[in-house]
Amino acid sequence: MNKKILIAAAWPYANGSLHFGHAASLIGGDVLARYHRLCGDDVLFVSGSDCHGTPIAVEADKRGVHPSLIAEIYHKEFIETLIDGLGFSYDTYTTTTTENHAQTVQEIFTTLYEKELIYKKTEQLPYCISCTRFLPDRYIEGECPKCHFENARGDQCDNCGDLLDPHDLIHPKCKICGTLPEWRESEHFYLKLSVFADDLKKWIEKSEGWRTEAKNFSITMLEQGLHDRAITRDTEWGIAIPLSGYEQKRIYVWFEAVCGYLSASKEWAQKNGNPDAWKDFWCHTQSFHYYVHGKDNILFHTIIWPAMLLGFHKDFHLPDRIYSSAYLTLEKQQFSKSRHHAVWLPDFLKNFDAEPLRYFLIANGPETSDADFSWSEYAVKTNKELIGNVGNFINRTLSLIRANFPDGVRLQKNVEEYQNVFLDHIRESFSLVGAAIEQGNFKDAIRSVCALTDEGNKFINDTAPWVSVKTDKEKTIGDLGTAAYAIHCLSILLQPFLPRSAEKIARAFGITLSEVWKAPEDVLYVAKEVEPFYKKIEDSEVETQKALLGGLSSQT
Ligand code: MF3
Ligand code: ZN
Repeated sequence: MNKKILIAAAWPYANGSLHFGHAASLIGGDVLARYHRLCGDDVLFVSGSDCHGTPIAVEADKRGVHPSLIAEIYHKEFIETLIDGLGFSYDTYTTTTTENHAQTVQEIFTTLYEKELIYKKTEQLPYCISCTRFLPDRYIEGECPKCHFENARGDQCDNCGDLLDPHDLIHPKCKICGTLPEWRESEHFYLKLSVFADDLKKWIEKSEGWRTEAKNFSITMLEQGLHDRAITRDTEWGIAIPLSGYEQKRIYVWFEAVCGYLSASKEWAQKNGNPDAWKDFWCHTQSFHYYVHGKDNILFHTIIWPAMLLGFHKDFHLPDRIYSSAYLTLEKQQFSKSRHHAVWLPDFLKNFDAEPLRYFLIANGPETSDADFSWSEYAVKTNKELIGNVGNFINRTLSLIRANFPDGVRLQKNVEEYQNVFLDHIRESFSLVGAAIEQGNFKDAIRSVCALTDEGNKFINDTAPWVSVKTDKEKTIGDLGTAAYAIHCLSILLQPFLPRSAEKIARAFGITLSEVWKAPEDVLYVAKEVEPFYKKIEDSEVETQKALLGGLSSQT
């Protein structure tokens, strides 16, 4: 049986447009999915829009509309941004508002409740007398007890990433009206996280290949001791609790969102006419699971979701790799919606090519430590590295072939030593780049690919086919055949990172884009006119874009 690779990318909250930071934390999922497909593995790449919870309810209140409208608007926009725009190759991109998702969540809830892994408890919760409502999560704000950030939310501090209990907040206030909340009794359901501590510890300690931050953070959480957590909320927006008497409450957004990986897999199986096909990915020893998200999501993916899976059914596969990325800043400052310090993806995609952005986010992204996006660096990456290096090698090779060998060239059977050095590097790249991708070292992976184009440019400079063609046609065919084969390999090596560029290369050669992670060696390369790869980023554009920060924006 083929390997079954599940790629589980985080579900963005459908409460506002996506910016570069979101794309930076998710793009690794697409690289993995495209790479594993090329390896011939069975890939299931799932995600969706996270539509419940207070982030959406707060936004809906602000605009005076129903939360479902907000969720619908942004879900549609996310599809345009992530799939049509950035080219993410999800097998299923769904939402948490489907009937299938609710059923999946309720089944897990009920099973855990019946096994007494979920229990009821009455607690004192913040209640706003002026809004006449309980204040879950983001409806309450105050000072973080750990880092003293002023605007920490009831559930988490955005500054230090710590999970909070609203009781911990210093100077709490209602997010809507600013009133000091009072404490009232409310009954809620709790996940007995504490009973999973030993199993989780064993599992995390023997896990391999996670991003260091994900592993360290998880171990620290376990060392601090796991506390049971409330998994229901006083709200009307969310998934119903499958027990009577709790009609005013809903399941906590994080408890249900993580179930989305499973429900989306079921949806995919259903749509493909084999409703049980998801089991091959979830209940099979041959399966392998990658989780890709930003570092503020770590705990939910390494502790809470695994605990839920352990409690739900012994046959369910736990995460294999956790690839949590760090944060991306913009011109050295945090992205901020309120200060209009952001580049919104829908705006960007209206004016710029998507592939250079993919390139930037992979080559310069916040893979293991925080990284910065600056417009001037973006221009350098696009103009010098992509156009000047990658594009140049391809363009000059193709025009040399077109001008001198209109019937095409092939990789020769007998190659010269100097040609072989280049060819060896190209052939070795497949295993090197593949291993780096699997290990989540996307930066290294794309660098190795670009190193080949450096070498290619040097190869063309050294062999100077425009000179040799006048005296030694045979040698020139050998050189250009070698370079053409290198470009064919590049089209495959680039596919996980820059799929549309890979397609352009294939079209220029009149070849079909390979579906295999290696190149056939007996192809005739007839060079066609090359479509321009990317638009150059002009200095004036850099200035214009910088001036826009903190000013105009599509967000209000
Ligand atoms: N919506 C969350 C966020 O944007 C991520 C949820 S990932 C999920 O931080 F798997 F739980 F859905
Ligand atoms: Zn209030």
